[in-house]
Amino acid sequence: MLDIDKIRNDFPILHRTVHDKNLVYLDNGATTQKPIQVIEMENNIYRNLNSNIHRGVHYLSGQCTELYENARQTVQQFINAPAREEVIFTAGTTAAINLVAWSFGERFVRNGDEILISEMEHHSNIVPWQLLCDRKGAILKVLPFNDEGDLQLEKLDDLLSERTRIVAVTQISNVLGTINPIDKIIEKAHERDIPVLIDGAQGIQHGGIDVQESDCDFYVFSGHKIYAPTGIGILYSKQKWLEQMPPWQGGGDMIDQVRFAKTTYAPRPLKFEAGTSNYVGAIALGAALNYLTSTGIVDINIHEAKLLDYATKRISEIEGIKFYGTAKHKTSILCFLMDSIHPYDIGMILDKLGIAVRTGHLCADPIMQHYGIEGMVRASFAFYNTFDEVEKLYD
Ligand code: ALA
Repeated sequence: MLDIDKIRNDFPILHRTVHDKNLVYLDNGATTQKPIQVIEMENNIYRNLNSNIHRGVHYLSGQCTELYENARQTVQQFINAPAREEVIFTAGTTAAINLVAWSFGERFVRNGDEILISEMEHHSNIVPWQLLCDRKGAILKVLPFNDEGDLQLEKLDDLLSERTRIVAVTQISNVLGTINPIDKIIEKAHERDIPVLIDGAQGIQHGGIDVQESDCDFYVFSGHKIYAPTGIGILYSKQKWLEQMPPWQGGGDMIDQVRFAKTTYAPRPLKFEAGTSNYVGAIALGAALNYLTSTGIVDINIHEAKLLDYATKRISEIEGIKFYGTAKHKTSILCFLMDSIHPYDIGMILDKLGIAVRTGHLCADPIMQHYGIEGMVRASFAFYNTFDEVEKLYD
């Protein structure tokens, strides 16, 4: 059992008021709040340690480099990657997907090839693949979901073909909350030697991943959705792809030797980390993951599941409520509309009561089109949320 009061004391922002009301922060799907362990880590680096990594022989540079590479190892252990060289720091999920879409696409995708995504993807797992299709003359295929919010897996066999070059699907929908059967999707794709990218932006903090057990080829996530700062994220990739993919961006730190006639590149992971990376964010991401591990991932997930159950029961008692995303396996994301009230109006009224929720298309326009609506209201719960806060939402 989690000691929620103690946990909440680790998150300073949860104690502020908004419009003279205690803040009820239910927009964790958009970004999570940060514990003092993360805030202090950033603070300590800028006050005492700051120096560019991999570049200096001086003391501070050595210290920051060591912390940065330790953070890489923390991520490796958190997702159970076989090697630390398979963990690449990026600016976030979006940057990681764009990296794969560009670099993998450059090497492996040709005119007439196919890319398979799902109907419930976030824009960041749609648009980079569309850009790739435009560049290469490839075709985007889409696996649909049913009205409950489950992927129609029975259609997968028909959508995979000998021209499919990659499958990219979300682990958990940021709108429907559905926990997708990624193991089955990966198994089916691998039967045809097709690699799979899993978008873990909502999955990493709700259940996490064992990349070896799932056998995914690529796994991406953002730091800011797992209690770490913004501007840092992860691309995990199986070594065999990193070896074959060309660098995405050129610049410092990713090179071996630069000559005007020919430049050679640093080995992975640095080959994919051009320029001064967000080393402070990376180190703080390590601190966030350590904080979660010491708090207890299993207990965190149990508490979030209880919050979802309670919120679903309570909110369903309200007349005129319609939920979107009612899959059996789902995480603590609750999307709804109420009568014909515009979602922005609901969001603004809740805001006046100190309650933060997200409203609108939720960066997943195709899901809105599926239901024939313009937007929804989303309450997304984290482990620091309480049953009392669910009551406030209900009220
Ligand atoms: N992807 C973020 C969300 O779902 C921004 O709100």
